[in-house]
Amino acid sequence: MADDASYDDSLKKLMDDFHASIDVDRRLYKVDIRGSIAYARGLERVGVLTVDECQSIEKGLKEVESEISQGTYHLTRDLEDIHMAVEKRLIEIIGPVGGKLHTGRSRNDQIATDERIYLRETIDGILAQIASCQSALLKLAERTVDVVFPGYTHLQQAQPIRFAQYAMAVMTGLERDKGRLQDCRKRVDVLPLGSGAMAGSAFPLDREFLAQELGFAAISSNSLDAVSDRDFIAEFLSACAMLMIHISRASEDLVVWSSTEFGYVRMHARLATGSSIMPQKKNPDAAELLRGKSGRVVGDLISILTLMKGLPHAYNKDMQEDKEPLFDAIDTVSVALQVYTAIWETLEVRESNVLSRMDDAMLATDLADYLTQCGVPFREGHGIVAAVVDEALRLDCGLRELDPAVYLGFSEHLDEAVVGRLKYRDSADKRDVPGGTSRRSIIEQIRQAESWL
Ligand code: ARG
Repeated sequence: MADDASYDDSLKKLMDDFHASIDVDRRLYKVDIRGSIAYARGLERVGVLTVDECQSIEKGLKEVESEISQGTYHLTRDLEDIHMAVEKRLIEIIGPVGGKLHTGRSRNDQIATDERIYLRETIDGILAQIASCQSALLKLAERTVDVVFPGYTHLQQAQPIRFAQYAMAVMTGLERDKGRLQDCRKRVDVLPLGSGAMAGSAFPLDREFLAQELGFAAISSNSLDAVSDRDFIAEFLSACAMLMIHISRASEDLVVWSSTEFGYVRMHARLATGSSIMPQKKNPDAAELLRGKSGRVVGDLISILTLMKGLPHAYNKDMQEDKEPLFDAIDTVSVALQVYTAIWETLEVRESNVLSRMDDAMLATDLADYLTQCGVPFREGHGIVAAVVDEALRLDCGLRELDPAVYLGFSEHLDEAVVGRLKYRDSADKRDVPGGTSRRSIIEQIRQAESWL
């Protein structure tokens, strides 16, 4: 250790760097300034600021904002965080009166307010992005209503569907994602400003006025809760994680279906990339990366939950760490939705490949269903058809290639006419309940989904 003074200096430098959040929270400068302008007006309203002082602060804040956006005010680490940076520059520009702005306010209610304004707008943007993705899916559904496709369970061909049924499944999951975000938005839309450090402001602020100025639907009802609460971030990240899981699962479908073995779909060439060694490769990178990015967003959710878990009430410096997962999830989801939308917009379904790979054993349920119409109990019919399928397997042929006599050997009801009627499209159309894969039902689903947009 050199002399005490230089050790002290080095510690100061270490700590300044360590606790500075400006590299991350600089992105809140606009909402921070918007919050401060509203706050200045609030102070003027209750006589803490004169009209002139308020005007001068407002003008100064706008000046700070334009300096930051033009890059002429450098947000360096020694400024600590965005709140201190804005205030410091404000005082430099308009003089000591700028120091009146923070009267009765704490960075604790300030940061919570900033985050809520920021998130409210972000959610609106994500909702719009999901809606455009849904439009792409709706168009895809419209153009694939008559494309038969194997429906899978356990990744084994199960029952024939129309491709549009799949597109609408993806669409429907996104609608729930929108619902979760809209619901979360209601709880984001509550103003903490006026809660001060945690006990509430000692100045008689008109909080309803502040809420109105900042477009909040309500004011927080308990100051201690208001500065402690980061539920709104956890909730948002949870909705984002679920959205990304949906995106990831559909991406996995596409990775499988675009493989040489399946060849059911082709993604736009711009969404695939080649290999540095194998000239033939067209890797489904877009879908793979979407699958990968979902892990990040799940991680962001876990970060915030872990961060908050052991914290006592009110603000703790740990909470400064809430922004990185929040911003990371916002950025990830936003780019993911762009790519995901592009995938659906340009997806090619290769119908003849699909047909050539469909196993007509998928029509077995229809045969069993038919037997029930002849009065055979379903469980018994299931056994009969399983035996027919086993026979086809033994002879290594399709259900429809089996000799009619084989059918009759299993059941008198399985005559040639019945077997001859087994068609993928008819099978799909028999699933005519609401939500089923019949043509009629899918058109109804599409019609209903149009009202979601
Ligand atoms: N930079 C801080 C954060 O992002 C602002 C709130 C600081 N409050 C405090 N009491 N130190 O969380």
